[in-house]
Amino acid sequence: MALIEFDHASYSYDASGRALDDVSLSVERGEYVVVLGHNGSGKSTLARCMNALVVPDEGAVRVMGLDTADPDAQVEIRRHVGMVFQNPDNQMVTSVVADDVAFGPENLGIPQPQIVQRVDRALEAVAMTPYAQADPAELSGGQKQRVGIAGMLAMEPDVLVLDEPGAMLDPRGRRGVRRVVRALNERGITIVHITHFMDDALEAGRIVVMDDGRPVLDGTPDEVFRHGPELRAMGLEQPFAMRLATRLRELGVPEQAAPDTPHLDVLEEALCRSLSNM
Ligand SMILES: Nc1ncnc2c1ncn2[C@@H]1O[C@H](COP(=O)(O)OP(=O)(O)O)[C@@H](O)[C@H]1O
Ligand SMILES: [Mg+2]
Repeated sequence: MALIEFDHASYSYDASGRALDDVSLSVERGEYVVVLGHNGSGKSTLARCMNALVVPDEGAVRVMGLDTADPDAQVEIRRHVGMVFQNPDNQMVTSVVADDVAFGPENLGIPQPQIVQRVDRALEAVAMTPYAQADPAELSGGQKQRVGIAGMLAMEPDVLVLDEPGAMLDPRGRRGVRRVVRALNERGITIVHITHFMDDALEAGRIVVMDDGRPVLDGTPDEVFRHGPELRAMGLEQPFAMRLATRLRELGVPEQAAPDTPHLDVLEEALCRSLSNM
């Protein structure tokens, strides 16, 4: 059974049109999925469907087989699917980091000794243990997002859905969030990361590109980023390595030395190997 399954799901906020248009898509356990797409393409709506904040008007979204439209299933669904949003300030509810992280499990009615353990583990997972007693207001944006992630982890979710968590962060803050998210995925947590930063996208095992309420490209970064003209038509760029390799090939550098890869380290390796053989 897929962890998250969109089955011909459509949704409209109002009469102006469909925010999601007949989406069929599965996320399997353990995946690291990045969702790309221009503004208004339906990424946030897709994310909200994953924890029943939005319920489709047509079709269905199921989380571990539970229908998000079933009011009796929604509490359980939200325990399986943790959400992290763009603005870290909106996710802070108390004036002590550890209390903030404890907020979710307290609402679940978890006994106090277990909460303490969960909070410790969650703060450790996001490298924020030294800040357990700090005031969230004094943290950087990136640290706040990591506390937000810890708050979700304390609920022990199966999936973490992050909707542009780096949008308000500097590159350093984003790097910190990316590192934490990667480590969580390595520990088995399924990741759905909505972003418009290329560095984030290259972390993914799979990329889904949304356009006009629909997934239009779906595959590994290598596969998806090969669609240069389609991506450009949707206002998206190819990664730097691919643009550079294309330029090099246009200048006569052989494919072997300038392969079509989104990963700069792969290109670097191929280029250096060919140059050292010249
Ligand atoms: N709360 C809302 N009320 C009305 N329309 C909305 C609302 N949120 C999003 N939309 C519309 O739904 C479409 C998809 O939006 P959204 O899912 O937020 O896309 P993205 O996250 O990719 O920018 C857009 O046309 C947007 O204007
Ligand atoms: Mg959005």
